[in-house]
Amino acid sequence: MYARVTPLARALTPLQSLIARRWRPQWVCQSCKQRRLLWRSLTTSTTTTADNGKPYYVTTPIFYVNAAPHVGHMYTMILTDVLKRWQQMKNRRSILCTGTDEHGMKVQQAATKAKVEPQEFCDKGAEVFKELAARIDISHDIFMRTSNRKHKEAVEYAWQMLEQGGYIYESKHEGWYSVSDETFYPQGQVQLIVDPPTGRKIMVSVETGKEVEWTSERNYHFRLSAFRERLLQFYRDNPKFIVPATRMNEIVQQVSGGLEDLSVSRPLERLSWGVRVPTDPSQTMYVWLDALLNYASAVGYPFTPGSETAGGWPADVHVVGKDIIRFHCIYWPAFLMALELPLPKQVLTTAHWTMGRQKMSKSTGNVVNPFFALERFGVDAMRWYLVHDGGITDDADYDNSYIIEKYKKGLSGGLGNLASRILKGKGWNVRRAVERFGHTGTAVGPRSIEFAGSDEYGPEAYKSLQLLPEEADKFMNDLLPNKAVQRIMQAVYDANYYTQQTAPWHLVKALENARADGTSVQVLEEQIDKIIFINAETLRMVGILLQPFVPTSAKKLLDMLGVDQGRRNWDWCVVGRDDTYGVPKMDLEDPKESTLFPRLTSAF
Ligand code: MSP
Repeated sequence: MYARVTPLARALTPLQSLIARRWRPQWVCQSCKQRRLLWRSLTTSTTTTADNGKPYYVTTPIFYVNAAPHVGHMYTMILTDVLKRWQQMKNRRSILCTGTDEHGMKVQQAATKAKVEPQEFCDKGAEVFKELAARIDISHDIFMRTSNRKHKEAVEYAWQMLEQGGYIYESKHEGWYSVSDETFYPQGQVQLIVDPPTGRKIMVSVETGKEVEWTSERNYHFRLSAFRERLLQFYRDNPKFIVPATRMNEIVQQVSGGLEDLSVSRPLERLSWGVRVPTDPSQTMYVWLDALLNYASAVGYPFTPGSETAGGWPADVHVVGKDIIRFHCIYWPAFLMALELPLPKQVLTTAHWTMGRQKMSKSTGNVVNPFFALERFGVDAMRWYLVHDGGITDDADYDNSYIIEKYKKGLSGGLGNLASRILKGKGWNVRRAVERFGHTGTAVGPRSIEFAGSDEYGPEAYKSLQLLPEEADKFMNDLLPNKAVQRIMQAVYDANYYTQQTAPWHLVKALENARADGTSVQVLEEQIDKIIFINAETLRMVGILLQPFVPTSAKKLLDMLGVDQGRRNWDWCVVGRDDTYGVPKMDLEDPKESTLFPRLTSAF
């Protein structure tokens, strides 16, 4: 069915022919074949199959090193980190991979412009992204660089597998190439415009507005068109493969409309900075084939037969921006099908951060330097704001004034205020309330809490708290971390409202009077303890659930409450389950130590 593979040049270096000889026979040995069949059967499984102890594996896109990171990149990293930490909080072993995309025309040209060797250029670029990851508390396990030797070997190996499978053929290619997007566009997807700053007439991509140039060359192609039916079947079997559903529909439509084969190499004289085609040193591999494979090479591809899933493959979620869906949701699954590897379970596609309603990007010049933003607002404030207000379906506009406004309402005015009221308030004692209403050690929930007829807000706040873990978890399972954090904050707002309405400080006054009068104080004491208990439980559960979002502040909150280290995970996120806390692990009188969310004062 397929045309014979005809390499452009047959001359291999001694190393390349050694590699080629070593790989091919090994791959097809009998026992490996058996295992491959087993492995292949996994590739058709749907997204809900049991994981047999496979670690949860989540990835960020790998970042181009030609430009400095901006808030959009930081957003993708934080979302991915939240997904990982959520699973960790639920006691699942989890792996996060991030890294840098270092090959291709774009980086080659940027290095030339900077008058440095590409490798040196990439080393510097990768450091900046590593620094960003560290600065924003990304809990990555792997930082993948595509110029890394192991990755390059994995890519060469994959190429040979594709070639052996008959998926690669040589042909003349003509088309419009965008260096900025690192992709070819068909004639119907480009248009002639007058470039406003220069007045030059240029061809640009209709989709991204990026300049394209006409290229005509001989190179290798991947038989993408052959995967149309299998891809459509895969989408049908896995309707939640792409989140949100609107983007799933777009991809299904695109693929239904037909697929063209994909050019997967460039002549060496045009592109030298990349992985050389192992069977033809006159060609360099297409950067997207190389880059996508990072997700697999990072966790052990080519996999050792028998322990394929040990590193985490297949990925549970790839988090990507909406501009790179085609690569992740069409090309990548097709490459994996051709390589007979299991497909990722889900791709979370996010909307963009805009500034003045225009996509934040280096070429537009409207980028926000994440390091400056972090300096100004702090790590947790940025993590919280970007997830809480960032778009999954719709773009979100970035503005410093929004950050301050939201911080005041949610973090300092909402959670900070609740914590300070309950933990530092006079006239009650959190430990006493927990002892009175916390569970007995035998029951699963708290001792029954009865609400007097006058306590009209109590049942609502209590119910909302009971439902919180399940509802937040549902949003996380649906890959909507923004909705999850909004739901968690709702519990805080509910508790604040409840406290405001029940005004325990008034009850404290009444209690003092009763004591002075020598009348019974028991009912009043119970009433106060009940309000404090519901609030303390809100703080405790919110503290546990916020760990993935704002790790430092959540830890501080749980320390303030005196929650035991071993009781900060999902198992304990049930109202009344933990009755051991209530004695702070820090000095609450020291404002420096015990202020959860300091006021944002400087220069605003
Ligand atoms: N190198 C490719 C990805 C290869 S993955 C195998 C790439 N790199 S990138 O540096 O240009 O973009 C990295 C991520 O940042 C992408 O998911 C992209 O969508 C995201 N963002 C870039 N600008 C963005 C915004 N303004 N807002 C939100 N995310 C944005 O693409």
